[in-house]
Amino acid sequence: MLIKNARLSDGSLVDLLLEEGKITGILQNASAEGHQVLDAKGRTVLPGLIDLHCHWRVPGQEHKEDVITGSAAAAAGGYTFVTLMPNTSPVCSSAEQANQVMEQVERHGVCSALQTVSITQNFDGKTLDHLKPLPEHLRFITEDGKGVQNNQVMARAFAICAQRNLVLMSHAEDMEISKWDYRLAENLETVRNLHLSEYYGTRLHLCHVSTKEAVEAIGAAKRKGVPVTCEVTPHHLWFADLDYRVNPPIRTQQDVDALVQAIREGVVDAIATDHAPHTQEEKAAGAAGMIGLETAFGVCYTKLCKQQGLELYYLEALMSRFPAAILGLQDKGAIRVGADADLILVDLDTPYQVEPDKMHSKSRNTPFAGETLYGRVDYTIKAGKLVFER
Ligand code: DOR
Ligand code: ZN
Repeated sequence: MLIKNARLSDGSLVDLLLEEGKITGILQNASAEGHQVLDAKGRTVLPGLIDLHCHWRVPGQEHKEDVITGSAAAAAGGYTFVTLMPNTSPVCSSAEQANQVMEQVERHGVCSALQTVSITQNFDGKTLDHLKPLPEHLRFITEDGKGVQNNQVMARAFAICAQRNLVLMSHAEDMEISKWDYRLAENLETVRNLHLSEYYGTRLHLCHVSTKEAVEAIGAAKRKGVPVTCEVTPHHLWFADLDYRVNPPIRTQQDVDALVQAIREGVVDAIATDHAPHTQEEKAAGAAGMIGLETAFGVCYTKLCKQQGLELYYLEALMSRFPAAILGLQDKGAIRVGADADLILVDLDTPYQVEPDKMHSKSRNTPFAGETLYGRVDYTIKAGKLVFER
């Protein structure tokens, strides 16, 4: 495939040659002869987005999202790689289950996935035996949906991770305290986990950081050299004081401003969706979370670039290059000769409204309905093949 007239995030206009799943040429005025041509018509080309935090409900809760609808939602949102959380039914606590999900996603062929594994077996809060035999390619463990409560269990988990070169992804929530104070619940577990990371030298990734205090604590730890990275979500950057059930909750304007400031200071390493599909009935019954794959880029481009003046190349880094680096994906997250041909073409100029009815996810739980955004993903290319066209 030859993509003609695509604008790189530095503003230059190029043609991109894609062969056998790789980018093989970044050219000027390339001849179209012998190629399948896609005219970008001046749209901006970015590396496929990489999500560090996504729920697809496979196996066991496919009525919310399955591999086909999850892949379609990812492609429509510009994501070519997703990191899947293990709070499925059953919980993902084994290499067998993780491999099965990843093979299913790969076979479908629309995007790639890393399935994460639980910290404690079946989220029982204590058993860590399943961590020792995990193979090389399954290096990311998390209890997402809850925090590991017991300090001694968590300390042992950090020690095992340090020994075995695993990365611990933390949903920081003290489950006793979050019943009455979700801010304190996040702040306390964040600080505990930062201490454990420093003490054991374990690589720690903090998920969906939402409070001023938590992001300040992460900044301080980073300045001390603690091996920690963190992500924020589009919804915690966009909304303040909104009554829409999600964990962590939507915070205050002061928190939003602190997250934006932390982005500017380089404390935030990535933006991740926390795409959490639920049916209408489940939402009505109190399920926490919102879908996010199909709104993430527009929300972040509008909030951070249009409103806050962040450079596009830096948003590209937060949504693709840095997540690729965190996951150790060497051929992804960049537009260069030899990299994987995972690309998106976006229209940055035409405003549009968020219309849940037109989304590809199986669920529709989003508070972004009706918001006006800039930054619409029009084409998604995965391994050199067109997988989404708006
Ligand atoms: O709001 C949330 N929904 N927060 C989580 O941590 C889990 C997620 C889910 O799985 O629905
Ligand atoms: Zn979480």
